[in-house]
Amino acid sequence: MSPALSLEDAFAGPFLLESLDGPDPLEKRQERWRKELSDTIYGQLPPAPAELDVEVNPLAGSPAERIEITMRSADGAKALIVDAALWRPESLDDAPLIAGLGFAGPVGILTGPEFPLDMRARIHCRPELGVEKGRLHDVLRGTEAHRWPVEMLTARGYAVLVSCYGSWAPDDPNEIMRHGACPFVGLDTGAISLWAWAIQRLLDAAELIGGLDMGQVAVAGHSRLGKAALWAAANDTRIGAVLANNSGCAGAAPAGHAVGETLAQMTAAFPHWIKLRGDATSLDQHHLLASTAPRRVYVASAEKDLWADPAGTYIALVAASEVWPESCFWPSVEAMWARARQTCQSALGHHLRPGGHELLPYDWQRFLDFLDGGHT
Ligand code: GCU
Repeated sequence: MSPALSLEDAFAGPFLLESLDGPDPLEKRQERWRKELSDTIYGQLPPAPAELDVEVNPLAGSPAERIEITMRSADGAKALIVDAALWRPESLDDAPLIAGLGFAGPVGILTGPEFPLDMRARIHCRPELGVEKGRLHDVLRGTEAHRWPVEMLTARGYAVLVSCYGSWAPDDPNEIMRHGACPFVGLDTGAISLWAWAIQRLLDAAELIGGLDMGQVAVAGHSRLGKAALWAAANDTRIGAVLANNSGCAGAAPAGHAVGETLAQMTAAFPHWIKLRGDATSLDQHHLLASTAPRRVYVASAEKDLWADPAGTYIALVAASEVWPESCFWPSVEAMWARARQTCQSALGHHLRPGGHELLPYDWQRFLDFLDGGHT
């Protein structure tokens, strides 16, 4: 449980993030930031597998297709097999794509029994739901449908590709080295890097599936999966836009703002997520956001989700915006908070939603307006 935080805590300050300006061209600075973020926070992002194939199968009684992704090592000795679901908009060839990981994946989105449970997946234990030992279970069916409102997304013309994060890397410090991507790539790295790698592999799969517009790819994620979406976007130029919801510590929320979760708290509770180097770093999360420029970045927060530091998140986005070519008008953080409103520049977007830590259709309406190029 998150410790209780009062509203005044949202504005702890004074607080300034270092300028991202420098003598080197932006690409060079970004290269340096990525390397330092990987060396000091996330751990290495594994390389792409030698081989990756997809099998696409319609799902009986469902508008979704089941995508089976098989990856093999160069010598063929190791394989990783993972599944995902794809929803396509009706009568649209070459649909723009939104891809991401979900906490229960397709099983959490589809309410019927049609999608098989990946028994190799290891998700975060939720004993209150009867999810012992982190296994996918029938009780999870449909529990994340509100987080991935696929009907709304396909009606707006987007294809949606979602996989279960636990199929790629166990969300369990005792299992992470034993299952999924870690033994497959043979690299001891943080789970956020492994989930970012998973998002990249979803895009490899999407390239092979066909009928998708790979020139218009957005990746989305909530909370720990928002952290992974941001890290994937910073490292993969196929990602045209990233939608990071309530991503918090090691996501869009700067460690330098003394509100909400700290890196030390996060690594104590989830030691497998990152590879924090003790002497840490001069970088903060605005460097992560700025590593994606000039591609598009949208961060969303919720008013009561102070654990994920909404005010700091906004300030990090505003600080990062200096590396984008267009100059932006950003309301002050107090004005943003008072009106809880959406601010969209052409490449950057933000909203603060009433309520708490969740990904809701409210957030998606705004993400889609942003992707459509809508301004408010
Ligand atoms: C915990 C954790 C956060 C994380 C969140 C989530 O609250 O402290 O860093 O974002 O879980 O993924 O739901």
